[in-house]
Amino acid sequence: MADVFKVLAQDHEEVKDMLKELEKGPTRATGASQDQLALRKKMTEQLIIGESKHEALEEMYFWPVVRDHLPNGDALADRAIGQEQAAKEVLAQLDKLEASDSEFEKLLAKFIADAREHIEFEEMQVRPRMRTALNSERAAELGTQIAAGKRTAPTRPHPRTPPSPGVLKAAGPVVAAADKARDAVTGRGSD
Ligand SMILES: [Fe+2]
Ligand SMILES: [Fe+2]
Repeated sequence: MADVFKVLAQDHEEVKDMLKELEKGPTRATGASQDQLALRKKMTEQLIIGESKHEALEEMYFWPVVRDHLPNGDALADRAIGQEQAAKEVLAQLDKLEASDSEFEKLLAKFIADAREHIEFEEMQVRPRMRTALNSERAAELGTQIAAGKRTAPTRPHPRTPPSPGVLKAAGPVVAAADKARDAVTGRGSD
């Protein structure tokens, strides 16, 4: 079973690949067809779903452990969660737009830049310290928890939900079920 570092790193690689793909375009401004714009919207939906799950799971399981295990854990967690909340605000707006809307590319470009900065912060500032601080059993246990949590994690950003582990764990399954029901009705995230 993959440990927490592998589980989170794999998510990060997937997000980075999606960002690179989206950056290639084409966009409305560079002459994308209707089909290409529809595909761009679908890819963005997949990005928002993956990102919403990832950040919610970090907030439920990862940041509390960072707070417990590192002397500067609170400062690191607070900074990261601040970045995550800001990203959720952008994604919640982006999720409402079509790829043909004039604001779409501006929001997407902002998300891409912010997400890269956030991933770099986690990988450069947090991961090395946590690798030293966590024993392999705890790292494996946390990895299992996060991987299993994907099934019931919210698929929408929910910037208004407080990013505290208690609130997310209590509200998470209900919110995620509602997200999935809405996704099924609207076809969001489907191929
Ligand atoms: Fe994060
Ligand atoms: Fe992350």
